[in-house]
Amino acid sequence: MSKNMSSIAVVGMQWGDEGKGKVIDLLSEEAQHIARAQGGNNAGHTIVVQGKEFRFHLIPSGILYPHTKCYIGGGTVIDPASLLEEIGSLTSQGIEHVKRLYISMYSHIVFPYHRLVDQLSEKLKGGAAVGTTGKGIGPCYTDKTSRCGIRLADLLNPEIFQQRLKAAVALKNRDLEKLYDHPPIAWEPIYEEYSTYAKKLLPYAAPVEELLYTASKKGEKILFEGAQGALLDVTFGTYPFVTSSCTLSGGVCSGLGVGPSRVGQTVGVAKLYTTRVGNGPLPTELSSDELAHFPDHSSSREVGTTTGRKRRIGWFDAFLLRHTTCLNGVDSLALTKLDILDDLDEIKICVGYKHCKMFPATLEELGKAVPVYESHKGWKVSTRDVSVYDDLPDLAKAYIRRIEELCEVPVSLVSVGPEREKTLWLDRFFDEQ
Ligand code: GDP
Ligand code: IMO
Ligand code: MG
Repeated sequence: MSKNMSSIAVVGMQWGDEGKGKVIDLLSEEAQHIARAQGGNNAGHTIVVQGKEFRFHLIPSGILYPHTKCYIGGGTVIDPASLLEEIGSLTSQGIEHVKRLYISMYSHIVFPYHRLVDQLSEKLKGGAAVGTTGKGIGPCYTDKTSRCGIRLADLLNPEIFQQRLKAAVALKNRDLEKLYDHPPIAWEPIYEEYSTYAKKLLPYAAPVEELLYTASKKGEKILFEGAQGALLDVTFGTYPFVTSSCTLSGGVCSGLGVGPSRVGQTVGVAKLYTTRVGNGPLPTELSSDELAHFPDHSSSREVGTTTGRKRRIGWFDAFLLRHTTCLNGVDSLALTKLDILDDLDEIKICVGYKHCKMFPATLEELGKAVPVYESHKGWKVSTRDVSVYDDLPDLAKAYIRRIEELCEVPVSLVSVGPEREKTLWLDRFFDEQ
């Protein structure tokens, strides 16, 4: 089988919310299959098409094109109520999804006790809380690796489901009472509620791994959709202020059951500044004075899609990006939100941290990191109506070229607005068939 250059992994390069949803939607015009590998409804992706906003949490952002097939992989964790709500909103917005949405039998199911433990453990951690989305993602992945989780395949079989749920709740009650001083919960109402979800999810359950393998063998165009961002990766992120899955390009393989030879190229999505939602270090975080000169959270669209929290904002960190380029083996960068910088007098790029040769592995070092900045003059003119890269102001092009140089990877796309058409293409993505 020859190497498949028709497939692209799209991953976040910072702390999430880089604009992956927009990039996936754009590339979906040419793709046949879009597959989400990991995470759950902690993710939130906003797409704007003809003035209409669509928000997705688990459903791949390629669903808006009627010709695509979308997959939710075995590496994801599924909150059925939330997923069914998303599916319902597709229906109410007239988006046909029958025979277009497939869910892996291997995906794990999020239960109410996962959300409960998420919230209780955050409370217990007090000042050291991660600042999770509270959706039960971490506790669900914990059960998966502790081998007491329940998968879609289990949920769909009433007897197996009952057996597994009873055992899981018994274990959970020990934790609830002993660790959290919380009264025990009953398995019966959960069984009732989730049995109705099982019936509704049944039509979507499919051998996602086989379907993707077959599509790949035929050379069909596949997009592998990553959620969150590299610095939230459970192994290489800013641990413990991370999510609980592998958010890197490598996570695409383990999350979808595809071999590495099936991933042709990797596109890293990065914002032209940095944001972070939740706790943990953000070395280039703006000072209050700098923040006062930055566009406000609502006009910069820096309010979380999932939790409505305001995102923390920092300057573009090229030192960090060079590091995440390495972790992801990125072939090109899709840079978003250039337009948000349009009115600034001065724009900074972090080119390194004082006394750090490598990106720090410990939180303590990262927390103390002193960024070394390079100052760039702002272009002070709107880029939102620019439709070809060459027409960008020279200062904006110089800013982008410098980022390309510092990160040692070519830029393939620049985004100047949330809408599809606000995109400057520098490169082709899919090979000709
Ligand atoms: P994701 O989680 O990586 O998909 O990103 P989100 O959707 O959570 O956050 C990105 C936000 O910025 C969304 O509201 C997008 O509509 C918006 N957005 C994406 N690209 C651009 C851009 O180039 N300019 C502006 N102004 N907004 C953008
Ligand atoms: P998308 O796909 C930004 C963050 C949370 C918290 C940490 C752990 O939209 O880029 P969790 O609930 O996952 O246990 O929370 O991870 N987080 C995200 N931040 N974008 C996301 O997804 C995120 N998903 C989780 O804020 O800091
Ligand atoms: Mg998001």
